[in-house]
Amino acid sequence: MEINWQEFYARRTRQITGSQIRQFFALTERPEIISFAGGFPASDFFPREEIGRVLGELACAENSHALQYAPTEGNHDLRAYLAAKIRCAGSACHIDNIIITNGSQQGLDLLCRILVNPGDPVLVEEPAYVGGMGAIKSYGGVPAGIPMDGEGPLPAAMEKTILKLERQGRHPRLFYTVTNFHNPTGYTTSLARRKAILALAEDYNIVIIEDNPYGELCYEGTVPPNYQALDRSGRVIYLGSYSKIFIPGIRIGWMAAPQAVIEKVCLAKQTADLCSNSLGQRLAYRLSAEGFIDRHVKKLICFYRKNRDAMLETMERCFPPEINFTRPQGGFFVWVQFPPFYPPARELLHLALEQGVAFVHGEGFFSGAGGSHAARFSFSQVSPEKIAAGISRLGKLFYRFREEDTRQAAGE
Ligand SMILES: Cc1ncc(COP(=O)(O)O)c(C=O)c1O
Repeated sequence: MEINWQEFYARRTRQITGSQIRQFFALTERPEIISFAGGFPASDFFPREEIGRVLGELACAENSHALQYAPTEGNHDLRAYLAAKIRCAGSACHIDNIIITNGSQQGLDLLCRILVNPGDPVLVEEPAYVGGMGAIKSYGGVPAGIPMDGEGPLPAAMEKTILKLERQGRHPRLFYTVTNFHNPTGYTTSLARRKAILALAEDYNIVIIEDNPYGELCYEGTVPPNYQALDRSGRVIYLGSYSKIFIPGIRIGWMAAPQAVIEKVCLAKQTADLCSNSLGQRLAYRLSAEGFIDRHVKKLICFYRKNRDAMLETMERCFPPEINFTRPQGGFFVWVQFPPFYPPARELLHLALEQGVAFVHGEGFFSGAGGSHAARFSFSQVSPEKIAAGISRLGKLFYRFREEDTRQAAGE
C-alpha cells in the first residue's frame, strides 16, 4: 500500500506554506534574465581570500575547538564581542543577554516557538518580511498587518488594530518589525515613530521583536537609535545577522534579550540543532575582532550605494510619473507602487519576463489582501549597468499602459 503522507503530517504543518516569492524564483533566476527579484547579497563581494586564510588557520589549530560542538548559547568570545557592539549602540547588554543563532531566521523561529500559541494574533508591518510571517504562521500565530508610510508603521492604525483585537478577546502580545531599510519597502522607522510605538507597546504590554539585518548598510545620513536602546522596560528583543554585512553561508546571527528569554531560547535551541556552526562562529569572531568586518562594511556601502543610485536614477528618468517608488537610504530594496489602472503586478511580472527582466510582485508580503499593484525591486545583485538596462526596458513596457489609458479616456 502506498503511503499517503498527508495523513502523517502533524496538524501544525498546515500553516507551513511555501512563499509565493520562492515559487517564482525558478522563473526569475534564469541566467538570461536581469533579476531584481532575489534579495541575496552580492556574491562578487564575498571576501574569499580573508575567509580562506582564517578558515585554514582554524582548521589546522591543534586544539580543534573550531571543529568541535560549541555551547548552545554560542562561542564566548563572539558573544562578548556582540554584547560590546550592542552597548555601543546604546543598550545595556551583558554576554548573558546574547545567544548566537543560525542566522536571524532561526532567531525568529525560536522566538515564535517560545512566545506564540496557536491562534495568537501577532502584529506585523504591512507589507512585511515573508520569512517573519512564515515563522509566526508555522507556530499557528495569525499576523495582523499594521500599514506603513515613509516614516514606518502608523501608531494610530496600530492602536486601532490592538483595540479591535481586544474587543474580540484576542490581546496581541508581540509586534515584529524590521526597523531599518525594511524588507520589502526600504523604509526606515523615524525616531518619533519608534518612540510612539514603544509608548503603545508599554501601554498595551506588547513585546517588540526588532529585526535589523540591514541597519549597517546605510548609504546616506544615519539611522535612529534602536528600539532596544530607547526601551526602558526590557520589552525589546533584538535580532542581528552576519548575512548581509559579511556572508550568509556561515549562517550566523545573534539575539540580544533579557537573560530569562535567552535561557528559554537556549533550551528551545538545544532540541533544534544543539549549537550554531562552530567554525562559522570562530570565523565571524576573528574577522570582527581584527576589524576586518567593519572595513568590509565600508566597502559594501560604496558598492551597494552605486547600485541603489543607478536604480533610483533610472526609475526617475524612465518610469511614467504615475508610478511611485521608495527612495531607501540603505539596504537592498525599493518598493514600487503601480496605479490602479495598470494590470496587477503579477501580470506585469509575466510581461516583464518576456522582456528579460524580473521583480517580485507584492501580494506575498501582505498578511491579508493587498499588494496586488505593488512590487519589490532588489538592487543588491545586479551591476549598475544592468540595473539601468533592466529598468529602462521596464519603463518602455509601463509607458504602454499609460498610453492605453490616455486613449481610453479620449474615447478612442
Ligand atoms: C528582514 C530579514 N530578516 C531576517 C532575514 C534572515 O537572515 P539570516 O540570513 O540572518 O537568517 C532576512 C533575509 O533576507 C531578512 O530580510
